[in-house]
Amino acid sequence: MRCAFCEQNAQFHDRVTGHFLCPEHARLEVTESDQQRGSLPLTIRRATPADRHVIERLMLYFWGETTVECFDHEYDVPHLPAFLACDDGKVMGLLSYSEEEATLYVVALNVLPQAQGRGGAQALLEAALAEAQARSLARLMVSTTNDDLPALYLYQRFGFRIVEMIPGSLVKHHGREESGFAGIPVRDEIRLELLLTKADSQECFSKRGKNNAVALATEEKIQTNRTGP
Ligand SMILES: CC(C)(COP(=O)(O)OP(=O)(O)OC[C@H]1O[C@@H](n2cnc3c(N)ncnc32)[C@H](O)[C@@H]1OP(=O)(O)O)[C@@H](O)C(=O)NCCC(=O)NCCS
Repeated sequence: MRCAFCEQNAQFHDRVTGHFLCPEHARLEVTESDQQRGSLPLTIRRATPADRHVIERLMLYFWGETTVECFDHEYDVPHLPAFLACDDGKVMGLLSYSEEEATLYVVALNVLPQAQGRGGAQALLEAALAEAQARSLARLMVSTTNDDLPALYLYQRFGFRIVEMIPGSLVKHHGREESGFAGIPVRDEIRLELLLTKADSQECFSKRGKNNAVALATEEKIQTNRTGP
């Protein structure tokens, strides 16, 4: 799907005008809290090897490549474990992750513009959190870039804290300053952490609120895991 104003792939959906937008033509807008979500929530399932092509397509659509450089690693996303956000069976979003040394690293998180604003990203993060809890990991880490204000908003609303910034790492990776969200130069990798002590995850649940059925179902799973062996 193309941006309403240029030939780039759209990454965002303007909920007011209905336009689909590339990062450069997207802007932030302050709005009131507690807005009702208009559509049914997306459903979350684990990816299987049969989903590799759809994951490749999503990565190429959003980033033009299937590898991601973050956390000082280069990850081959189609070969990582993943959760998928689906609408009536159709894959609309992706969270890929890698588990290393008691940490679940979120390597990719994307929801197609036509399915945004339905709690898909939040539900994918809930699934990753449930996975980390079930495997008794110590923390979740996510990585984004300095320009990606929607992602920084989403992660901090979810309970992540900024713990590290790698200045200039994206300029080094791209060989130049690329234009990012709203035309902000893409320069730095920003890493955020969510510690998984019981107290931290309970605080994080109560802050986020319960936005949709998927989040609720996932949370029930987490509670079950907490009381498990
Ligand atoms: C960022 C992204 C994953 C959000 O997906 P989504 O399914 O629309 O997010 P949700 O519906 O779960 O919304 C979660 C929260 O983020 C907010 N949010 C989502 N998109 C937003 C946007 N474009 N601008 C501002 N806030 C946004 C929602 O309002 C919600 O917050 P709230 O609970 O306070 O209302 C999606 O826009 C996307 O894939 N963007 C392009 C790729 C990208 O930037 N990925 C992140 C890379 S680190």
